Amino acid sequence: MRKGPGSCSSSGSGPGYSEPLRILAVETSCDDTAVALLEDGRAAAERIHSQLVHVDHGGVVPELASRGHMKVLPSLVDQVLMEAGSIHPSMIDCFAATAGPGLVGSLLVGLSWAKAAAWASGKSFLGINHLAAHLYVHYGTGSEVEFPAVALLASGGHTCLFGMASWEEIVLLGSTRDDAAGEAFDKTAKVMGLGYPGGARLDSAAERGDPGSIRLPSPLSDPSDPEFSFSGLKTAAKLAWEGGADLHDLAASFRETIVGILVSKLMYQCSHSGARSVLAAGGVTANSLLRSRLEGEASRAGVRLFLPDLKHTMDNALMVGRAALAVLRRDPSAASPLTCNAFARWSGTSLSPLGCQ
Ligand code: KG4
Ligand code: ZN
Repeated sequence: MRKGPGSCSSSGSGPGYSEPLRILAVETSCDDTAVALLEDGRAAAERIHSQLVHVDHGGVVPELASRGHMKVLPSLVDQVLMEAGSIHPSMIDCFAATAGPGLVGSLLVGLSWAKAAAWASGKSFLGINHLAAHLYVHYGTGSEVEFPAVALLASGGHTCLFGMASWEEIVLLGSTRDDAAGEAFDKTAKVMGLGYPGGARLDSAAERGDPGSIRLPSPLSDPSDPEFSFSGLKTAAKLAWEGGADLHDLAASFRETIVGILVSKLMYQCSHSGARSVLAAGGVTANSLLRSRLEGEASRAGVRLFLPDLKHTMDNALMVGRAALAVLRRDPSAASPLTCNAFARWSGTSLSPLGCQ
């Protein structure tokens, strides 16, 4: 990390620092192009554009995703700046973008844009870790997380459990050995003819089914084991479908199995770590059963539950901006180098909001 040319301030008290602190955040790690302008952590304006081009291909085509980001990013930035009150780029203190993990070609679009904007305006740039950003959607909201905390990140690309002693100390407890929870939802939905991405459609179909009607395997289901495995479950669901299972019953049984595993492992970690807060984030936290189960379990355990609002379960730029805000509050002169590169995978045990290769 280097000190930036025009360093960002979190307090507005330093010489030449603006008040409010303005961060322009960009997220292009997969197939959603997202831009947000934050003023002291609040979204003054934000836009998310989800690419539809992948639907016909039944999955994200990386080259099309990169080209899609190229096409819409400049106009999304213009719209956000306009909506926030005709903000001129010179009024922005810091430009932040996701550096990884994700599709490298997609990441490079947002990353290069943010670096160029920072360089041209003499302001600082921050490269942000996407996984940390999902958790940081709960940062600086006005309803502060009490520590220690445990967190579940469940998305299309990741399923991880984290222990959090504070926002600065986030430790990986376990992750998936094969498919992510969202990936299992999407692939099973596709087999069942629900289209792509089918997680939300499978969730809706499950509402009219009997969750106890079809016996599916629960791999690595011991709550004390923080690792996940969903690939065997996905195959079992495919075999049940090919064997003539009812769509609604299979959807309900499949959803029940995944949600049961996610909730039991998260709540085990909660009770065995003396956690005061439980955080959940990522696209799968839009799942209606997961949300209601977590609400019930957290209330029973007497801990505070932090669930993103539905819009911010998916990939978004507000979470990237909040991760950047946390970095700046810790060190107002923080800045990533302009050589910050995109990365496809994150492997580590301690998760930081800053991430560059
Ligand atoms: O966080 P996200 O937008 O992107 C990644 O970083 O992966 O998560 C997208 C994932 C997809 O797999 C999608 O099917 C899943 O979240 N998802 C759901 C629901 N809504 C979205 N999975 C289960 N139930 C839902 N209601
Ligand atoms: Zn994500």
